[in-house]
Amino acid sequence: MKAAIMGYGVVGSGVGEILINNADIIEQKLGDKIEIKHVLDLRDFPGDALEDKLTKNFEDIVCDEEVTLVCEAMGGTKPAYDFTKRLLEAGKHVVTSNKELVATYGYELLQTAKAHNVNYLFEASVGGGVPILRPLWQCLAANHIERFYGILNGTTNFILTKMYNEDMPFDEALRLAQELGYAEKDPTADIAGADVCRKTCILASISFGTHIDPEQVQTQGIQDINIRDVSYAKANGYEIKLLGYCSKLAGGKIDAIVSPFFVPKGNQIATVSDVFNGIVVVGDMVDEVFFYGRGAGSLPTASACVADMIDCAMHTEKRKNFGWGARDAAFVENHKCCKSAYFVRGEGDINAVKAAMGDVSFLSLQGAPLNEVAFITPCACESELDEKLAAIADFRIASTIRVLV
Ligand code: HSE
Repeated sequence: MKAAIMGYGVVGSGVGEILINNADIIEQKLGDKIEIKHVLDLRDFPGDALEDKLTKNFEDIVCDEEVTLVCEAMGGTKPAYDFTKRLLEAGKHVVTSNKELVATYGYELLQTAKAHNVNYLFEASVGGGVPILRPLWQCLAANHIERFYGILNGTTNFILTKMYNEDMPFDEALRLAQELGYAEKDPTADIAGADVCRKTCILASISFGTHIDPEQVQTQGIQDINIRDVSYAKANGYEIKLLGYCSKLAGGKIDAIVSPFFVPKGNQIATVSDVFNGIVVVGDMVDEVFFYGRGAGSLPTASACVADMIDCAMHTEKRKNFGWGARDAAFVENHKCCKSAYFVRGEGDINAVKAAMGDVSFLSLQGAPLNEVAFITPCACESELDEKLAAIADFRIASTIRVLV
């Protein structure tokens, strides 16, 4: 089978490497070779094993009738959207690691794939090398998904781990993550939570059968995490993790949010450190399932892309039935109407906190200033919690972080 790679960066070059180095196992599984005929990139790669396949012209791929399978690893939506649509319309299977494209245009591109009887698969777009989309779609197919939450970004988990375990300053940890090839081209997408938001949308779309758009999900990154909050977490049995969180609500809508969370140390997710990703899925029949592995990096992400390529090659005659329904603007509940618990740190009088908040658990930290008060609220509607916090007399809030319950 003749294939092409579009984008020869961290992921695309990993796909090339796996197709060459693991050609034996792929051929054994498939009964056929996957042979790279074109590699699209504007850059030159002198001395690369696939140098002679390089092209700067997309038409070389879309017009080549021999090529039936394409891995898109370009990232972003322009020109990836136009290219993907044209490839699907031309009857070629497409696999991708491009979470921005899938989160934004997944429904439409899946419809295009269906109309042309080809596959559009994107296992690598969530969790890097961690198998999560296929298990969610296939292995958990007998369940109503009740909720999922996960560490979905390797860069921010790496940074938080370094801050937590080694007191490493934020900037130094970010630089290291960039050097290791984990971060996005513009790391703002990692730090500010946009990357986790896209992945949460893809998981939610598969879990609940309706396209969830990034604009529907309230998103907060790790840029405001303060080293004092980290110290309180450490001293009181919590980790701090950036989570994509989604749950089915009683009325049929969903609660979806991306936010840093205090995670109790007993939770599986609390054990996920460095670049690793971890996702807990709760189904009504299976109960809790936990997925874990490398969420970023060249070969782990490419491993998922190549698995999708193999799956496409196995389904050339009959397209896999995979997808979800159109967006419904009312499907995601306003997060302020959903329930949360908060960690709160601020300056003021502990009695004023008791008077306004009622039943909270106060946290201690050795050496904390006398007027610093930190506590965890009960789980309640967020707008109610916000009102109560605003009503504490003479209390200056330094930070509020959600607590995973
Ligand atoms: N920048 C992303 C991360 C890459 O750090 O997880 C994988 O999607």
